[in-house]
Amino acid sequence: MNINATTVKNKNLELIVVDDYEKMSQLASEQIFEEIKKKPDLLLSIATGSTPTRAYDILAEKSKIEPQAFNKIRIVKLDEWGGVPSDDPCTCEVYIQKHLIVPIKVSADRYISWESDPESPESEVERITEQVEKEGDIDVCVLGMGVNGHLGFNEPAIALKLKSHVAVLTDTTKKHAMAQEAEHEIKYGLTLGMGEIMRSKKIILLVNGSHKVEPFKQFLTEEITTNFPASMLWLHPNVTVICDKEAVPEMPEKI
Ligand code: GLP
Repeated sequence: MNINATTVKNKNLELIVVDDYEKMSQLASEQIFEEIKKKPDLLLSIATGSTPTRAYDILAEKSKIEPQAFNKIRIVKLDEWGGVPSDDPCTCEVYIQKHLIVPIKVSADRYISWESDPESPESEVERITEQVEKEGDIDVCVLGMGVNGHLGFNEPAIALKLKSHVAVLTDTTKKHAMAQEAEHEIKYGLTLGMGEIMRSKKIILLVNGSHKVEPFKQFLTEEITTNFPASMLWLHPNVTVICDKEAVPEMPEKI
């Protein structure tokens, strides 16, 4: 596919704006696939939500053509809605199984996944922290941005948490489309912390749609604040932000 893209970059961050959601997804999946080809046992952390869905589906299509390219990949689930059974339609688990784990055939030993309804959320945090540490730093972290600037369930606050944790969800996040599908009450969030995200070797942030215009304007101010967790990405040395035009009606001349 020929992707018409406008790009601005500084030493650490590249912003690419493409025509529409399909092209954003195409470019994101191509970039992820390039990384998999460079490192077959890539440790890939993945966000859920409406933003990356098509990119994952394109990757799943690629895996049908080149299944051997995906037989070593390791996947980490970035976050999860807490206090609901894992088969509740709202869960990141249902989403990830459907869009990636089943179609690209990721075996259980290559998938690190939050339990959505653990007996002890604190012990679940310890379990995931240990597993992620054992696997080493995340190679590629695919992120979406909440309308309030959250990354995973690292919510806006006076301080952000370095490590994986049980998150108190904001009212804005409780209104997220996934949460609206819940058949049980969502009680909290489980998420990798800002430390695990920022230690990722490469970050791909995807942003699309007119509902992200205002939050993305905030991002582009380059003001770094815990009240807008995505702003921390300006401090990371290797970030690619891929957006559609709807989310970025005015391309900045420079960053
Ligand atoms: C959700 C998830 C995030 C996701 C973000 C954006 O609450 N916890 O991992 O990236 O919000 O979601 P969307 O892509 O649907 O806008």
